[in-house]
Amino acid sequence: MPTYPAIQIEKTSYRSRMVGGIRGADAGSNLRLCGWVHRRRDLGGLFFIDLRDRSGVLQVSVGPDWTEAESLALARGLGAEDVLEVEGEISFRPPEARNPEMATGEVEMKAVRMRLLNRAVTPAIPVFRSPEEELPSEDLRLRHRVLDLRRQEMQRNLRLRHELVLEVRNYLSGLGFVEVETPILTKPTPEGARDYLVPSRNHPGEFFALPQSPQLYKQLLMAAGMDRYFQIARCFRDEDLRADRQPEFTQIDLEASFIQPADLFGWMEGLMAALGRVAGVDVQAPFPRIPYAEIMESYGSDRPDLRYSLRIQDWTRVLEGLEFRVLQAAVAGGGRIRGLLLEGGGGLSRKDLEGLEGVAKKAGAPGLLWVKRAEEGGSGPLARFMEEVTYEALGLRPGDAALVAAGPDRVTSPALGAVRVPALRALGRGPERGAAWLWVTDFPIFEVEEGGRLAATHHPFVHPHAEDEGLLETDPLATRGQAYDLVYNGVEFGSGSVRNHRPEVQRTILRHLGLSHGEIDRKFGFLLEGLASGTPPHGGIALGMDRVVKEFVGAPSLRDVIAFPKTTAARALFEGAPILLSDEELRELHLRRLGPGDGSVDTEDGGIQGPGTP
Ligand code: AMO
Repeated sequence: MPTYPAIQIEKTSYRSRMVGGIRGADAGSNLRLCGWVHRRRDLGGLFFIDLRDRSGVLQVSVGPDWTEAESLALARGLGAEDVLEVEGEISFRPPEARNPEMATGEVEMKAVRMRLLNRAVTPAIPVFRSPEEELPSEDLRLRHRVLDLRRQEMQRNLRLRHELVLEVRNYLSGLGFVEVETPILTKPTPEGARDYLVPSRNHPGEFFALPQSPQLYKQLLMAAGMDRYFQIARCFRDEDLRADRQPEFTQIDLEASFIQPADLFGWMEGLMAALGRVAGVDVQAPFPRIPYAEIMESYGSDRPDLRYSLRIQDWTRVLEGLEFRVLQAAVAGGGRIRGLLLEGGGGLSRKDLEGLEGVAKKAGAPGLLWVKRAEEGGSGPLARFMEEVTYEALGLRPGDAALVAAGPDRVTSPALGAVRVPALRALGRGPERGAAWLWVTDFPIFEVEEGGRLAATHHPFVHPHAEDEGLLETDPLATRGQAYDLVYNGVEFGSGSVRNHRPEVQRTILRHLGLSHGEIDRKFGFLLEGLASGTPPHGGIALGMDRVVKEFVGAPSLRDVIAFPKTTAARALFEGAPILLSDEELRELHLRRLGPGDGSVDTEDGGIQGPGTP
């Protein structure tokens, strides 16, 4: 990649440089600078203007002895965020006026001439903020996003994002991956969310779907002999939003032929290390690889934060004999009694424990039991059933506490998994190490949905584990897949698998998901046709680019690393979208707003909704 000297990059017809790199060595040079009025101070006839551009801030001093009269008058009326062009000489500030907190704090520009390039209305939210001032609310920031994006923190996030994307492209290209764009107007791809649909004006009643991911296209590219594909891919999912999700997000999406998971793990660990170098994050590879079953047993979550080592324990044998009905009923029903041993957990207050129970309930458990051991006896719902030997068998010493859940694993795992870290935090314990990477491997291909139907754990294209291929027909639920997730500090960074390259295996999986032959052909005929044309064994992964950037820059929200994100209510506040269409506009798209009695659902803002509209 060619690199040019900063001055050559920064120079334009308006300016000779940007402000951020100006230092003592520039004293004596005459420059023309452009930027925004970050802050203006009026010292009675003498003005100090902090001029800001993308690169930083520089003090410009304006005074009767060195500034032309017209420019002096302009300085008097300047407001925050006005756009200026300033010409003058860089000089050292007097020693007492130097500002070591500011990169350019040793120098200033003595303005000879200034030109107002554009006026700004009074900013709705401040761009300049003293360190103790709080950020405006997020809704306000999104509503006035242009101003919000002017903040140096946001500028830094977007630039670092650019550098990370660039590194992804360079790294993968270096490994022989080729970037290929796949369609945005496409056919539904099942990734477990709803599709955003686009009506076709030319084909009445027909719709495109925006891609939830390039999954099927990247597999077809393998069928097409591309061998290694990648894409910085925009994905769209109409799902219930959570803090770590956006309806529109970006994946680092890749696929390769003739590979096993180990090939991919090596590449991705190298990629994370390369991105870590760009972002200044230390990445220690290789990452541990732990099967899903083991992860769920020990941590109760498929994306545990392994900076905390606390593990779930199976206490069935020790506690099933207690005269406590809840425990006995759980075991009689085929469940287990599992729990977390909290050293020093005696320090948890009743409020802490109620909070933790709330977390367990939110994760689907009917409740959470607990016991604290004191020097003599103990407290908590389990205490009166406990004896010295029971405490000893659990490994509980005086001052410790145990959190206990009983029932089937599908209830106890998520509950204990959800309280594991909050319990430690409530005790004031921080992470035991700086970063924890993890590959979770061998996910089951299927899970049971409510009503007993099978659903795909990841998506339906996962290849069975080599040892479980024989189970696919007879015991689908027991069939592990060659699927893996990459987890960083409890955040799912990415997900992938080896795929079914043989059409008959793919058909069997789709059949288990309840699709008839006809539906399989209608929905996935094009994939099966591709597979049948001589598709090599292949696999891949997609990493959530937004999540990677958020974690690597240390931003509090995904919205801090996306220029124009959606709110948690899936709205774009700056531009104001989505919008209602007029009847005429709808007619052109062959759509009709449903009225009462048409099976329509009243939405808050009268949007179109009805049967058949997903
Ligand atoms: P999956 O659906 O797990 O897999 O997505 C891969 C990664 O994309 C990120 N991600 C999101 N980020 C922000 N907002 C969202 N709404 C969102 N949804 C997902 C996550 C996730 O780990 N085609 C498969 C990948 C494959 O098998 O190769 C897929 O899309 O970081």
